[in-house]
Amino acid sequence: MKIVNYPHPALRYPARPVTTIDAKLQKLAAEMLALMYEHKGLGLAAPQVAHPYQMFVVNISGDPEKKENELVLINPVILDRQGVMEGEEGCLSFPGLFTKIRRAKSVKMQGYNLKGELLEIDAVELLSRCLQHELDHLPGVLFVDKMGPIAKLAARTSLREFERLYEKARGKGEIPADAEIKKQLDELALLA
Ligand code: CO
Repeated sequence: MKIVNYPHPALRYPARPVTTIDAKLQKLAAEMLALMYEHKGLGLAAPQVAHPYQMFVVNISGDPEKKENELVLINPVILDRQGVMEGEEGCLSFPGLFTKIRRAKSVKMQGYNLKGELLEIDAVELLSRCLQHELDHLPGVLFVDKMGPIAKLAARTSLREFERLYEKARGKGEIPADAEIKKQLDELALLA
């Protein structure tokens, strides 16, 4: 399993709600956390590892030793959002790209953990930003979709470069054709 980069189609494939929390899902969450730490991220959503499931992992400390900050959320929804904040944001599917994104300052989010318990989380500042970013991944929304016009212009070259690298990798046979990826995603989606 690895993190897919923009413009991999898995990032745009709408994730399905999880219907069973089993050993397979627990293994997926554990692998996602390991990848997130390895790549120095604060959050990772299942579509970023080409698994179309409504699940993400977060640890705003970015520190694998700080398990108390680890959060796995399954089928998450936002119940409330308040205020506005602007700040730098990155994404493990866009390595090296950081851009200013406007988000709600605080959110109330609900979702299940790996034990199947319903959690309600009140988040502010960095955790709020992280949760909103990861939640967006589930229906296939990316942080670059949320950039203002100036940030969009500034990121244009960088996005083209990601697209060029993706095409190059596909040309070398490192990435399957879109139709093949879509088929794999459809098959995984049925197992949600
Ligand atoms: Co992201």
